[in-house]
Amino acid sequence: MLWVVRLSGLCSFAMVMVVLSPSLQSFPPAEAIRSSHYLRLYGGYGHHVAAASDDSEDLVFRRAPPFHNAAECEPPSANGTSVCDSSLVHIAITLDEEYLRGSIAAVHSVLAHTRCPESVFFHFLVSEPSLEPVVRSAFPGLRFKAYHFDPERVRGLISTSVRQALEQPLNYARNYLADILEHCVRRVIYLDSDLVVVDDIAKLWRTELGSRAVGAPEYCHANFTKYFTDRFWSDQRLASTFAGRRPCYFNTGVMVLDLVRWRRAGYTRRIERWMEVQKSGSGRIYELGSLPPFLLVFSGHVAPIEHRWNQHGLGGDNVRGSCRDLHPGPVSLLHWSGSGKPWVRLDSIRPCPLDHLWAPYDLYGPAAAS
Ligand SMILES: *[C@@H]1O[C@H](CO)[C@@H](O)[C@H](O)[C@H]1NC(C)=O
Ligand SMILES: *[C@@H]1O[C@H](CO)[C@@H](O)[C@H](O)[C@H]1NC(C)=O
Repeated sequence: MLWVVRLSGLCSFAMVMVVLSPSLQSFPPAEAIRSSHYLRLYGGYGHHVAAASDDSEDLVFRRAPPFHNAAECEPPSANGTSVCDSSLVHIAITLDEEYLRGSIAAVHSVLAHTRCPESVFFHFLVSEPSLEPVVRSAFPGLRFKAYHFDPERVRGLISTSVRQALEQPLNYARNYLADILEHCVRRVIYLDSDLVVVDDIAKLWRTELGSRAVGAPEYCHANFTKYFTDRFWSDQRLASTFAGRRPCYFNTGVMVLDLVRWRRAGYTRRIERWMEVQKSGSGRIYELGSLPPFLLVFSGHVAPIEHRWNQHGLGGDNVRGSCRDLHPGPVSLLHWSGSGKPWVRLDSIRPCPLDHLWAPYDLYGPAAAS
């Protein structure tokens, strides 16, 4: 225990030295790697920052190592490089300034662990057009398309939630994938930005959904009641929506979506209708952000996926410094859901032990000297 204290004391001392000593200034101070500094990096934003430091100019995302399909990968179909190529694995991820570092690490992890990285097509839902070139430079050759997600689409539907981060319009972009993506895309894997995949994503892609539109790991031992308010449970017209189902909690950060079934059933509109109930004057029916409407529409109708595909909760809760452990069982995906994020904790030199599993996928920082 003692050596840990000594070591962290030494680190702080070293940090102070880096900041103070002019001869060490070529080392970026850890302060410069904070996510707020993204604002300094990309054209169009720089002028908003009054006092950008000299070395911030050098801080960009490093280029990921090149990735190529293994020999046994299915060759592209007749459509060649089109998004409609039927041999593709489709993944949707959001990109915004705050979570950009996480999104880039998530993409990197997918490419690093799949045997057929050139057969993966990414659909990025972006809040700012300036983020697209960042992806292009970090992953030359990546097959992707960026879609602008207009916050106005959900502005009037979002109610205030317990955690401000949950109110970001882009959190709701997953509701609209069936509308936004090309109609030839029949299935998509939705991934949050605070996770890394450590297994071949093609295995998740091939998951059998049966007749369901949504596949996700289910947690039937979780107390489902707590996701909704007393007002919801006491109003028969509302609570009866779960009649005839066995609703279980599932995390919406990793989902396999059958977009054909989704479009046919009009699920986007059904989700929006619950958001309208929440916003209507008669009192809130849940406290969290984008999750409860998904539970309302899909719980009990979800195709269960192996738990290894969403080892969630690693972010911990609002208790300062809380670190979570993995759930028992195998791990194909690590998810830092909750309020703590690994890049923030790693920068603060107070990481949780599992945060070190995220670090190898991080591409943020100065390029190696060439
Ligand atoms: C080729 O792309 C078109 C749209 O561009 C689509 O309608 C068609 O289904 C695709 N064919 C195959 C074999 O993927
Ligand atoms: C589930 O949560 C509700 C609301 O928070 C609580 O009233 C109830 O006692 C809990 N049930 C169990 C079995 O823990």
